Amino acid sequence: MRMCGPVGGLLTALAVVFGTAVAFAPVPRITWEHREVQLVQFHEPGIFNYSALLLSENEDTLFVGAREAVFALNAHNISKKQHEAYWKVSEDKKARCAEKGKSKQTECLNYIRVLQPLSTNALYVCGTNAFQPACDHLNLTSFKFLGKNEDGKGRCPFDPAQSYTSVMVDGELYSGTSYNFLGSEPIISRNSTHSPLRTEYAIPWLNEPSFVFADVVRESPEGEDLGDDRVYFFFTEVSVEYEFVFKLMIPRIARVCKGDQGGLRTLQKKWTSFLKARLICSRPDSNLVFNVLRDVFVLRSPDLKEPVFYGVFTPQLNNVGLSAVCAYNLSTAEAVFSRGKYMQSATVEQSHTKWVRYNGAVPTPRPGACINREARAANFSSSLNLPDKTLQFVKDHPLMDDSVTPIDSRPRLIKGDVNYTQIVVDRARALDGTIHDVMFVSTDRGALHKAISLENDIHIIEETQLFQDFEPIQSLLLSSKKGRKFVYAGSNSGVVQAPVAFCGKHGTCEDCVLARDPYCAWSPAVAACVALHQTDSPSRGLIQEMNGDASTCPASSPLPFPPPGSSSLSCLGPDSSSSPRSPWPASGPGPDRRLQVTLLPPFLSDQAQHVHALGTFHLFCQATGPADVHFLWEKNGRELEVCVPTQTHALPDGRALVLSWLRDALRESAEYRCSALSRAGNKTSKARVTVTRLEATQQERWTRELASWRAVVGEHDRMMQSWRKAWESCNQDAF
Ligand SMILES: *[C@@H]1O[C@H](CO)[C@@H](O)[C@H](O)[C@H]1NC(C)=O
Ligand SMILES: *[C@@H]1O[C@H](CO)[C@@H](O)[C@H](O)[C@H]1NC(C)=O
Ligand SMILES: *[C@@H]1O[C@H](CO)[C@@H](O)[C@H](O)[C@H]1NC(C)=O
Ligand SMILES: *[C@@H]1O[C@H](CO)[C@@H](O)[C@H](O)[C@H]1NC(C)=O
Ligand SMILES: *[C@@H]1O[C@H](CO)[C@@H](O)[C@H](O)[C@H]1NC(C)=O
Ligand SMILES: *[C@@H]1O[C@H](CO)[C@@H](O)[C@H](O)[C@H]1NC(C)=O
Ligand SMILES: *[C@@H]1O[C@H](CO)[C@@H](O)[C@H](O)[C@H]1NC(C)=O
Ligand SMILES: *[C@@H]1O[C@H](CO)[C@@H](O)[C@H](O)[C@H]1NC(C)=O
Repeated sequence: MRMCGPVGGLLTALAVVFGTAVAFAPVPRITWEHREVQLVQFHEPGIFNYSALLLSENEDTLFVGAREAVFALNAHNISKKQHEAYWKVSEDKKARCAEKGKSKQTECLNYIRVLQPLSTNALYVCGTNAFQPACDHLNLTSFKFLGKNEDGKGRCPFDPAQSYTSVMVDGELYSGTSYNFLGSEPIISRNSTHSPLRTEYAIPWLNEPSFVFADVVRESPEGEDLGDDRVYFFFTEVSVEYEFVFKLMIPRIARVCKGDQGGLRTLQKKWTSFLKARLICSRPDSNLVFNVLRDVFVLRSPDLKEPVFYGVFTPQLNNVGLSAVCAYNLSTAEAVFSRGKYMQSATVEQSHTKWVRYNGAVPTPRPGACINREARAANFSSSLNLPDKTLQFVKDHPLMDDSVTPIDSRPRLIKGDVNYTQIVVDRARALDGTIHDVMFVSTDRGALHKAISLENDIHIIEETQLFQDFEPIQSLLLSSKKGRKFVYAGSNSGVVQAPVAFCGKHGTCEDCVLARDPYCAWSPAVAACVALHQTDSPSRGLIQEMNGDASTCPASSPLPFPPPGSSSLSCLGPDSSSSPRSPWPASGPGPDRRLQVTLLPPFLSDQAQHVHALGTFHLFCQATGPADVHFLWEKNGRELEVCVPTQTHALPDGRALVLSWLRDALRESAEYRCSALSRAGNKTSKARVTVTRLEATQQERWTRELASWRAVVGEHDRMMQSWRKAWESCNQDAF
């Protein structure tokens, strides 16, 4: 991932420095090492990249899509393989792929990317097929591919490294992926015989998106099909509306209507209902912005009025590993699409465009709306009847001005020192009847965190090392069938099946109660910690206190236990060799660090850029260190003679923060260095600024960059204040 915009970078820098003392670094109460939990696993020798997981309708079979293979496993014990089907790439196809410069051993294979139910006895499967995406039907009775060899363009990426998402809705496949060999043409489409639709190929519709997830939300009660069901797509894309020097990523939710048939003239065979909005996941009081979406889970339950979207986010610049979970009500997103303001692009200063709120008149029917009862009543029975004005408007204004804010306007969970990758959420009823949304979040190091919210506090019940090799977990699936609740995790090396709780591992009543795990309760009758979803016996006599008050336990335990509410204590088993993991890298404001000079992002080395001759550009450097820390700027090895503005801010512990920004113009390419010098040592970062031919695009880019630097410098004072505030609270907490 590229360096992010300066504001994003500065914000993350704040998080890095102040993270040490900020209270959002919950530690898992227990860590289960891989060898401590005997998990059921599946791995077929010679087969890798187990990236697609699908549960059968009755949840008794787990289908797994890997590289060149699909497996059917017993969902109760995935080590029991029921069937397998291989889909290999032919040698001449492989050779043709290699001729185009792709790797024959890795890229020119068939990576299964789409694994969706087609009917009760068939799956719809698509694979990258050596950069020639293809789709086929898998007969579940014979477990054989039918050999249809459909062109999979637009449904499956060419490149196994590219993002993709898909969902099957009533036998039609909705997918988000790239449409060409280069991966440069993003598309959200519907594969349908009677009405295939796609997005317009235009930057305002999709701008270098990274697809994450898609799902359908049914509008009307079962059986009653008004064609008003919606399909939601989640992705991260490059911002068009905010201007920064670097590519600023924005997490999005987009929506299309199932009943959409495209326009008659305008938007023919294109979505007339494609609208998108920004997802907000940030902590306003700490300036933390999470702008890269990693995964989404839709929580549905009969006792929930509406589905809730859970998203896992990271900041764009994440060298320390910081992750968050935000939850959104469906109705909040729907309100933005059905009542929010649109954004409009305006051309300023010749070629330079800017996105602003559109305050003018909006045509009726409302652009981007589904064909609902009201539309039908007004004789618009299909999107094919929509007036040109409405269609032209939505074609030009796919982006909403309003953003989708999370429930409670804040993340559910923020965690340091971890990169979360995937999420599933289960609803568990505790013994006292309260319902807990249990979040299972996987990491890029093979672990699974299980967390709940307790009285405005987050409690990470446990961390389980699912994969021995600390590899990224790429897919998570929850089976929440009564009595048999499992989490399935897929990675490059295999699939793991984990129970939702390890109640039996809590050996005493105190340990069982202190776990504060809604799935577990102590049974004095059998003197064991039991899983509530597995006991048929009445809950009478069971002991569970979600506040961690273990005083209700029979007064016989000789074992010492931590005081109630000690969620920040990391309690490892006595035979566990690992030490409690620190929630933050060891970079607190300790005595050693005080003497060090540290460059903070955005580093100069990430600011390499192309400019046109004599166009102005800016470079930025930031560092902390002893009070005498200052900058030296060099150009091609010689100290710069122009004036370079610098700001120094004394920090309460005697250290200093220095910021410096250089404005320059060049005739020829040059190398710039900024060095933070002090008696404690020097730190240097360098970047090359390359002069290119004068072109309109460069000119435009230069104007944009200058404008964004102005914005950054303008914001600087405001940010200094939050820096200072955060620093002060940090010191209070730390000492
Ligand atoms: C497939 O798995 C191999 C082996 O772990 C890994 O090196 C490779 O990066 C994976 N490829 C993709 C596209 O995930
Ligand atoms: C799963 O199946 C394997 C092989 O049949 C067996 O050895 C193992 O004990 C089973 N595990 C569980 C938890 O049932
Ligand atoms: C699927 O396989 C079964 C058993 O071999 C066969 O009877 C059936 O016709 C096949 N279905 C299709 C659609 O090919
Ligand atoms: C997808 O499109 C292809 C080509 O138009 C068609 O043959 C196939 O049946 C479609 N599949 C689905 C699931 O709609
Ligand atoms: C998180 O990911 C970033 C970027 O890939 C990496 O530099 C960092 O070490 C990771 N952190 C953890 C705790 O895994
Ligand atoms: C809808 O069309 C019908 C039949 O053409 C007509 O009678 C009715 O007045 C129309 N309604 C509206 C709201 O235009
Ligand atoms: C989300 O929905 C819940 C329950 O339906 C409600 O209590 C809450 O106020 C909603 N939050 C927002 C931000 O709309
Ligand atoms: C740091 O820079 C100063 C001035 O350029 C130089 O005199 C000194 O030797 C440098 N120190 C180190 C440790 O590189």
